[in-house]
Amino acid sequence: MKTRRIWKQLLEFVSLAILLLPFIQPSIVPGQEKNATSPEKGTGQYVGVDTCKTCHEDLYKKNFEDTPHFKTTLQDGHGCESCHGPGAAHVEGGGDVTKIISFKSLSKNEANARCLSCHGEKHEQRHFSASAHASNDVGCLDCHSPHDAKVPEHLLVSAQPKLCYGCHVTAKADFAKPFHHRVDEGLIQCSDCHNVHGTTTLRQVRAMPTGDAVCVKCHADKQGPFVYEHVPVKTEGCSSCHTPHGSTSPRYLRVSQVNLLCLQCHSFPAQGPVGPSHNQATKYQACTMCHAAIHGSNASNVFFR
Ligand code: HEC
Ligand code: HEC
Ligand code: HEC
Ligand code: HEC
Ligand code: HEC
Ligand code: HEC
Ligand code: HEC
Ligand code: HEC
Ligand code: HEC
Ligand code: HEC
Repeated sequence: MKTRRIWKQLLEFVSLAILLLPFIQPSIVPGQEKNATSPEKGTGQYVGVDTCKTCHEDLYKKNFEDTPHFKTTLQDGHGCESCHGPGAAHVEGGGDVTKIISFKSLSKNEANARCLSCHGEKHEQRHFSASAHASNDVGCLDCHSPHDAKVPEHLLVSAQPKLCYGCHVTAKADFAKPFHHRVDEGLIQCSDCHNVHGTTTLRQVRAMPTGDAVCVKCHADKQGPFVYEHVPVKTEGCSSCHTPHGSTSPRYLRVSQVNLLCLQCHSFPAQGPVGPSHNQATKYQACTMCHAAIHGSNASNVFFR
C-alpha cells in the first residue's frame, strides 16, 4: 500500500518537473544572470536580439557580433537585453530612448551592478564592491567598453600600462626609474601583480595559493622552504627590502647601499635581531659579498651560500 503511494507521488513529481522544464533556463556563462538593479524603464517584455538587430544592425555587425558578449545570445540568454533590460516598450515606441536602459544615464554603482550580475561571485571580479577602485568611484566602464573597446582582448578602453598611468602618476614615475620591472617595455604587466578588480589583500596585490608574496610566481627560487630562513623574507615579505615597481638602486633595493639596508634591522646595540659582531670597517660593508644567500640557505645559518 505504502510503496504504491510513494510511487504515485514520485510520478506526479516527475511529470510536474517535465512540465516546468521549458521555464527553467540554463544559466549563461559566466555566473548566473541574477536581476541586477532594474531601473523603472526597461522593465517589461523581452523581444530578443533579432528584433534589436532590425534597427541597430550596424552596431550589431561592427560592435557586438565579434565580441565575447555575443555569448549572451546563446543558451537562451537575452543578448542585448541582458545589459539594456527588456526592450519591448522601446521597440513599440519606434526606438523611444526613454524606454531602454542607457548606460549614459546610470550611476557608476548601477552600471557596475549590471555587469556584476554576471561577473560577480566565483569570478576575478567578486571582490569589486569592496575594492579601492569601487570605493573611489572608478567603475567597470572606466576601463572596459563592451561596444567600443580599443583593445579587443578583455574589452579594454586602452592597453596597460597606459590605461593605469592616466590615473596613477606615481607608478608611472616609479617605472621610469633606472632599475625597474620592465612593465613599460611590455615584459610584464600591472595585472601580473595586481587584481584591479579587488582582492582581500592590501593594495589589491594578488596572493599566491601558498600564502607567499606574488613575487614568487616568477622568482620561484626565493620561495624556499630553506633549512635556514632569513626571517623577514617570510614575515615582512619581499617589499621590506625591495620596491616592487622601480628604484634608483640596483636590484630595486629600498636603500642605496646594502649595508644601510641590513643595518636598518641589524643595528647594534638596538633591540631586534643581533647586530653583526664584526665592525663596520670597509672590509665588511658589502654585506652580501659574504652573506650571499640572503634570501635563505640550506647550508649556512648565516647565509654564506
Ligand atoms: C524600431 C527600431 C528600433 C528597434 C527595434 C530597437 N531600437 Fe534601440 N534605438 C532606436 C532608435 C531610433 C534609437 C535612437 C537613436 C540612436 O541613438 O541610435 C535607439 C536607441 C537605443 C539605445 C541608446 C539609448 C540612448 O539613450 O542613447 C539603446 C541602448 C538601444 N536603442 C537598445 C536597443 C535594444 C537593446 C533593442 C532590442 C531590444 C533595440 N534598441 C531595438 C531604434 C530601435
Ligand atoms: C555586456 C553588456 C551589453 C550588451 C550585451 C549590449 N550592450 Fe549596448 N551598451 C552597453 C554599454 C556599457 C554601453 C555604453 C557605451 C560603452 O561603454 O560601450 C552601451 C551602449 C549602447 C548604445 C548607445 C550607443 C553608444 O555606443 O553609446 C546602443 C544603441 C546599444 N548599446 C545597443 C545595443 C544592442 C543593439 C545590443 C545587442 C546587439 C547591445 N547594445 C548589447 C552594454 C551592452
Ligand atoms: C581599473 C581598471 C578596471 C576596472 C575598474 C575594471 N576592470 Fe576588468 N579588467 C581590467 C584589466 C586591465 C583586465 C585584464 C587583466 C586582468 O585579467 O586582470 C581586466 C579583465 C577583466 C575581465 C576578463 C578577465 C577575467 O578572467 O575575469 C573581465 C570579465 C572583467 N575585467 C570585467 C570587469 C567588470 C565586470 C568590472 C566592474 C565590476 C571591471 N572589470 C572593472 C581593468 C579593469
Ligand atoms: C548576461 C551576462 C553578462 C553581463 C550582464 C555582462 N557580461 Fe561581460 N561577459 C559575459 C559572457 C558570457 C562573456 C564571455 C565569457 C567567455 O567567453 O568565457 C563576457 C565577457 C566579458 C569580458 C571579456 C572577458 C575576456 O576574457 O576577455 C569583459 C571585459 C566583460 N565581459 C565585461 C563586462 C562589463 C564591463 C559588463 C557591464 C557593462 C558586462 N561584462 C556585462 C556575460 C555578461
Ligand atoms: C579612472 C582612474 C583610474 C584608472 C584608469 C586606474 N586606477 Fe587604480 N586607482 C584609482 C583610484 C582613484 C584609486 C584609489 C586611490 C589611490 O590609492 O590612488 C586606485 C587604487 C589602485 C590601487 C590600490 C592602491 C591602494 O593604495 O590600495 C591599485 C593597486 C591600482 N589602483 C592599480 C591600478 C592598475 C593596475 C590600473 C590599470 C589596469 C589602474 N589602477 C587603473 C584610479 C584609477
Ligand atoms: C612586480 C609586481 C608589480 C607590478 C608589475 C606592479 N605592481 Fe603595483 N604594487 C606592487 C606591490 C607589491 C605593491 C605594494 C607595495 C607596498 O605595500 O609597499 C604595489 C603598490 C601599488 C600601488 C599603491 C601605491 C604605491 O605606490 O605603493 C599602486 C597605485 C600600484 N601598485 C599601481 C601599479 C600600476 C599602475 C602598475 C603598472 C603600471 C603596477 N602597480 C605594477 C606590485 C606590483
Ligand atoms: C610576472 C613575473 C614577475 C613577477 C610577478 C615579479 N617579477 Fe621581479 N622580475 C621579473 C623579471 C622578468 C625580471 C628580470 C629583470 C628585467 O626586468 O629585466 C625581474 C627582476 C627583478 C629584480 C631585479 C633582478 C636583477 O638582477 O636586477 C628584483 C629585485 C625583483 N624582480 C623583485 C621582485 C619582487 C620583490 C616582486 C614582487 C613584488 C617581483 N619581482 C615580482 C619578473 C617578475
Ligand atoms: C632582507 C632583505 C631582502 C628581502 C626580504 C628580500 N630580498 Fe631580494 N635581495 C636582497 C638583496 C640585498 C639583494 C642583492 C643581492 C646582491 O646584490 O648580491 C637581493 C636580490 C634579489 C634579486 C636579484 C638577484 C638574485 O638573487 O636573483 C631578486 C630577483 C630578488 N632579490 C627577489 C626577491 C624576492 C622575490 C623576495 C621575496 C620572496 C626578496 N627578494 C626578499 C634583499 C632582500
Ligand atoms: C627587515 C629587517 C631585516 C633586514 C632588512 C635584514 N635582516 Fe637579517 N635578519 C632579520 C631577522 C629578524 C633575523 C633573525 C634574527 C634572529 O633569529 O634572532 C635575521 C637574521 C640574519 C642572519 C642570521 C644570523 C642571525 O642573527 O640569526 C644574518 C647573517 C643576517 N640576518 C644578515 C642580513 C644581511 C646581510 C642583511 C642585508 C642584506 C639583512 N640581514 C637584512 C631581519 C632583517
Ligand atoms: C668579509 C665577510 C663578511 C662581510 C662583508 C660581512 N659579514 Fe657578517 N659575518 C661574517 C662572519 C664570518 C660571521 C660569523 C659567522 C659565524 O658565526 O659563523 C658573520 C656574522 C654575521 C651576523 C650574525 C650575528 C653575528 O654577529 O655573529 C650578522 C647579523 C651579520 N654577519 C650581518 C652582516 C652585515 C649587516 C654586514 C654588512 C654591514 C655583514 N655581515 C658583512 C662575515 C662577513
